[in-house]
Formats: sequence, C-alpha cells, structure tokens
Amino acid sequence: MKLYNNPDLLIDDDNKVEGIVGWKSPSNIALVKYWGKYGNQLPLNPSISFTLSQAYTQTIIEYKKKKKDDKKIKLDFYFEGKLKPSFARRINKYFKSLLDIFPFLRQLKFEINSDNSFPHSSGIASSASSMSSLALCLCSIERDIFKLEQTEEEFFKKASYVARLGSGSASRSIYPKAAIWGKMDEMENSSDFYSTPISPCLHDVFRKFHDDILIVSKKAKSISSSDGHSIMSNHRFKDGRILQANKRLHFLLKALKNGDLDRFGVIVENEAYTLHGLMMSSEPSYILMEPNTVQITKKVREFRKNTKTPVYFSLDAGPNVHLLYPDFAAKKVEEFIDSQLVKYCKDKEYIKDYMGSGPKELDF
Ligand code: PMV
Repeated sequence: MKLYNNPDLLIDDDNKVEGIVGWKSPSNIALVKYWGKYGNQLPLNPSISFTLSQAYTQTIIEYKKKKKDDKKIKLDFYFEGKLKPSFARRINKYFKSLLDIFPFLRQLKFEINSDNSFPHSSGIASSASSMSSLALCLCSIERDIFKLEQTEEEFFKKASYVARLGSGSASRSIYPKAAIWGKMDEMENSSDFYSTPISPCLHDVFRKFHDDILIVSKKAKSISSSDGHSIMSNHRFKDGRILQANKRLHFLLKALKNGDLDRFGVIVENEAYTLHGLMMSSEPSYILMEPNTVQITKKVREFRKNTKTPVYFSLDAGPNVHLLYPDFAAKKVEEFIDSQLVKYCKDKEYIKDYMGSGPKELDF
C-alpha cells in the first residue's frame, strides 16, 4: 500500500520557507502485544494499547529551506539540550525512508530538539513517544508549507501511518485513551498500515485507568525490540501466536466494552507472560525479566486474591512492570505499592501514569 506517496510535494525554488512546529506525544502500554513483523513495518498480529499521559516526548523542529538543493537530508538532533549524533543518524535514516511521502524533506534543513518527561536511563521504552511526536511534527510541517486542506481525522491517520514507519507501537500513541493497530476482520476500519482509535467503545470503568510503571532495572536491554521482532519471523510458535493474539484481541475488546475487569486481567497478564515466553523460546533464546519482575507479578496475584482489588500487571519488552487498575482502586493500590512493592524497584522508583488524552500540538 503506497497510500501517501506523493512525488509532486516539492517546494518551489523561489519559495523561502521557514518555520517551527512542536508536539508533545505520550507513550503507550500494549495490552495485546505486537510482536513480530513482515514487509515494511507491518505487524504479524493486531495489537491494542492504552495511551499514557505522564511518560511523553516533546519534539520541536525548526526548519528552513536549504540554499543548495542537493539530495542529502540535513539535520541536527539535540536530545535534552545535547547534540546527539548517534540519534541523528537514526533519524536521518528515517527521514530518507520517508522521501516518497515527503519528498520536500531533502529541500529543508532541520534543527530537532527532543526531551523525554521520564529519565532517559529509566529503562522505559521511548520509541512510541519519540517516533509519534516526530511523525506529528513532519505532518505539521507538510500542512504548514503546502497549506493542505485536510480534516483532523485525515491528519492523524497520516501521522499514524508515518509514525508506524519509525516504530510500530508509535502508530498507536497518536490517539487518546486506546487504539488498535493491525487488520482485524471484525473491525472494518482497522489496518496494518495505521492505527484506529477505539475510545468510544470503552466501558466507563476503562475510561479512567491507571498504569504505574515500577522500575525494576534501568539498564539498557540486551536485545532490542527490533531484533526481537526479526527473531519472531522464524519462531517455531509463530503461527500459533498469530492465532492466539487475534483471539485474545477479540475477547479483550468485548471485555473493554462490557466493563469486564476479570476477563481483562486474565488476558492482559497472560499476554505479558506470553511475550516473555516467546523470547525465552526463540532461537536464539533470551530473557529480559529480572528476578524482581517475577516477584512483583506474583505479589500482584497474591494481593488481588486476598483483597479482591482489581489490579493487574503487564510487561513491555523489558524487566519493568506496569500495574493497571481502575481509578476506584487507586488508594488501595497506592498503599500496596508503598508497603509491598517499592522494595523490588531500583532506587525505590516508580512512575505514576494513567490513560491520557493523546498528543498535543505546541503553540509558537
Ligand atoms: O514498536 P516497537 O518496535 O518498539 O515494538 C514494541 C513491542 C512491544 O512494546 C513489546 C509491544 C507493543 O505492542 O508495544
């Protein structure tokens, strides 16, 4: 699908464009995980996530027409105020991959400033927030230069498509509360190419949901998610996993509509263990959980059984634990974390996050 390819989108030679755009975009937590891809950043299975709020990236791009119209991408990238050539190389590659969609990128020079709300070394994956904020900035630059007439819906759909090309999970961060990425037969407007917002389908109990991120380790992962996705292509359980994820998404959507917290918890926790089970059973096999990851997940189940408090865990591709719970359980869960879980956290650190209202454009 070459939905957005547009070779004519070039700036006239005599046009001296310059400007500034910025977006604050959140991370997300997948409930049914995207794990494994095919083609150009397309998912082996559909996934769903809650959009977060406090863990976000803010990206500001200043752009100006280059004097010389060469074919090179020209950008400087600053992360938290410091020039970062290693990140700049990744973004340069990403911009190059977008030249069929945004051919004007090679006519401009960019100064990109990016900041995360969470500590860089906290072990929290930042690709969803960083790539979604970057994609939104590019769509804003296109809108501003070419004075595009598009609806908000069209703008965000394209941003989700462009974000996906940077990081699959970033395509879901574009939307408030919750989003699905990947084709599902039962959802007509779902697609492997961009995400679809689903917040109108949520039962009230799922409209104000918490996600506290317990920091078990701040170390960089031994295997990146992109290596993890490629290892999935030859995984012996690949076909079974695709069927399982589709089924789980079907039942999870029902639970989200009906307000069925128990069903939600069963699916979400099994997905967390399954993701890590897939890593442990891959070739080469590897493990990203730490002993304290397992301790916390066991404590959560024990606490839930003893107190009937609806609190559940999820895991990303890393050792940190996400605690998911509805707003009405917040007081009890806070006490539980402080009395029983912080001791498993690195430097007793955890981030209190919750479902958010999606990316925000910055005013200049
Ligand atoms: O978007 P990526 O390539 O960083 O992969 C994300 C993978 C998981 O976080 C483990 C699952 C998901 O759906 O977000």
